[in-house]
Amino acid sequence: MSRGGTPSDPFPLNGFHHIEFWTDNAYQSAQFFRSLMGFAIEGYRGPETGVRDTASWALRQGEARFIVTGSLFPDHPISRHVLEHGPGVHDVALSVPDAEAAFEQAVARGAEAAYKPEELNGGGSSWGRAGIHTYGETIHSLISSDGSWPPPDFEPFADKVARPVGLARIDHVVGNVGLGDMDRWVAFYEEIFGFVLLRHFDEKQISTEYSALMSKVVWDGSGLIKMPINEPATGRRKSQIEEYLDFYRSPGVQHIAILTDDIFRTVGEVRERGLMMMNVPDSYYADIAERVGEMNVDEAEMRRLNILADTDEGGGLLQIFTRMLQDRPTVFFEFIERRGATGFGEGNFKALFEAIERDQAARGNL
Ligand code: FE2
Repeated sequence: MSRGGTPSDPFPLNGFHHIEFWTDNAYQSAQFFRSLMGFAIEGYRGPETGVRDTASWALRQGEARFIVTGSLFPDHPISRHVLEHGPGVHDVALSVPDAEAAFEQAVARGAEAAYKPEELNGGGSSWGRAGIHTYGETIHSLISSDGSWPPPDFEPFADKVARPVGLARIDHVVGNVGLGDMDRWVAFYEEIFGFVLLRHFDEKQISTEYSALMSKVVWDGSGLIKMPINEPATGRRKSQIEEYLDFYRSPGVQHIAILTDDIFRTVGEVRERGLMMMNVPDSYYADIAERVGEMNVDEAEMRRLNILADTDEGGGLLQIFTRMLQDRPTVFFEFIERRGATGFGEGNFKALFEAIERDQAARGNL
């Protein structure tokens, strides 16, 4: 593991703005995030609001914002995207002070335009936005907003039903890229956004009997944006990153980690509602006292909820991973509570991978 410093040539960024998922059924996806994860539906855009070919729902919990979009016609780019990749992340939108200036700067530094700067007006608010391409079919919208939500072109929706579970904001977004491509994408984030390398792990640190991966984490220096990038490493069998690439059929977002102030409450609630989590082997908890370190936690409750713990030089962290969110073994969520640790649960990777591999074997892909 190595650690970097702060960027010397910063790109003005204010953090993650929202994540947009493309799916074949936005209504049902919105209900999934609302019923099982406590996100409130705060806006809608579709045929009833004058948009003929797509339906979108805007959701929020704390500062974590999602949009889910589906299309109504088979030849629409979203339909074709879903047919090829399955449901997944289309846009990791970033908050910037000035969308047009950010776009010009990004393109001047070599980014490929996804869509040109435009203004969104409606509902008394005004946003600027533009988009650039990143790995696979994924884009980064660059959004200068007045802090309003839902987006100006959505009709507000007053959700009286959603019950939040304590999710606060997006902590990190992880991408999977092809074999040999990790360094190219690290360089992309360094060159376009002035990000710096925070940590890297090689296959010796993240490997099991069957699978291995390499990972580098780039960040904006402030901690608001952290983006680990994984590539497969050769193991005895197919790595989980290869499995993702085979089923997503391109590089893309693997998981989104959302911060909670109280992971026991969050996980207790989502489990009660029926959200399925990745199972952790019982053997993981044999040396739990060591993993927990100085953290004052109820170890029996950790085991019951399948929560993982790790410590690094900054302190501790608690985390858990959901089951895959769709039929294909591609995208999932992480819930994370930080108690001083700045890492990503590296100490858990091996135990976690063994758990993932048992699931992978059950799918016949190991
Ligand atoms: Fe993570």
